[in-house]
Amino acid sequence: MDVAKAVVARPAGSVDRLAELATADMAGVDALIVDRMQSPVSIIPALADHIIDAGGKRLRPLLAVVAARLAGSRSDAGLKLAAAVEFIHTATLLHDDVVDGSGLRRGKVAAHLIWGAPSSVLVGDFLFARAFELMVETGSMRAMEILARAARVIAEGEVLQLSRAHDVNLSQETYLQIISAKTAELFAAAAESGAVAAGASPAKSAALRSYGLNLGFAFQLSDDALDYGGLTETLGKNAGDDFREGKATLPLLVAIARTGAAEREFWERVIGRQEQVDDDFHRARDLIVGVGALDATLDMAAGYADSAKDALSIFPESELRDGLEALADFAVNRRA
Ligand code: IPE
Ligand code: IPE
Ligand code: MG
Ligand code: MG
Repeated sequence: MDVAKAVVARPAGSVDRLAELATADMAGVDALIVDRMQSPVSIIPALADHIIDAGGKRLRPLLAVVAARLAGSRSDAGLKLAAAVEFIHTATLLHDDVVDGSGLRRGKVAAHLIWGAPSSVLVGDFLFARAFELMVETGSMRAMEILARAARVIAEGEVLQLSRAHDVNLSQETYLQIISAKTAELFAAAAESGAVAAGASPAKSAALRSYGLNLGFAFQLSDDALDYGGLTETLGKNAGDDFREGKATLPLLVAIARTGAAEREFWERVIGRQEQVDDDFHRARDLIVGVGALDATLDMAAGYADSAKDALSIFPESELRDGLEALADFAVNRRA
């Protein structure tokens, strides 16, 4: 078969097909999540159900179960780790919405606006604790090490970001350090721990970790672009939150650099001093789009998605590998 025919005979994978391949595993993960969010303290399942029932994309547990299968798992070994990963993610979202003062999550009113910030933070802690119980049940010291490290690194990323809010002089290097910690690390840990649960070789575990890390960078860069270029209705969270919080993300940093002295005072006022009036978000968005800062951000995301796909080259071709490649493209091109 010549190359052209091989390409035709091998259509690019799709994220839908990946989800289809993982249907049984993800049903198992969902059952674990519902089982383990229970508590006799009624406010815990009520608040947890509010955010968990809203769904979310479940990308990180999908990554964990697919990594386990790609690494050759024939058992359910990856399911508990996948549920633990989603609990860690959900806990960080509960905490993050308090920290960011965000009002909408997964298309619903943020939990802290219904139950208050203290309950939201404490139920986040409960979900973290549930994640650790699940990890211990797997009996894998290596998987525990990977996920415990991820939980610590995410917290460091969130605190670093908080400490550098309103900084119009933030370097791209520090920005990348922040998103590596707050987002990419959990994608990396999900993929690596799934591989470890499957008993993968160090080379395969490292390849899946690299895939996850690069996917995570692509995912957060596109998230930061969507905060200016996306729609609240499809995002399920309020577009413009980053700007209103004065968060220095890549689209903003690129625009600050490209607009130069002419707009310096504008950026100093709205981000540096946080003095914003009604139309400032639209002005900022026009400047960001006008100087090509969204395209620059998405180009960088596409570069990370390519690195993610490259990391999979040690695996033979398969539907799962095709699906993960499609997932890397989805991370960049998504609208939700
Ligand atoms: C939100 O992650 C937090 C970021 C890293 C941007 P997701 O967009 O994966 O959130 P859900 O789980 O689908 O709601
Ligand atoms: C994403 O934080 C990472 C974590 C929640 C740890 P963001 O603040 O950038 O994400 P959204 O926009 O609230 O989902
Ligand atoms: Mg946030
Ligand atoms: Mg945040």
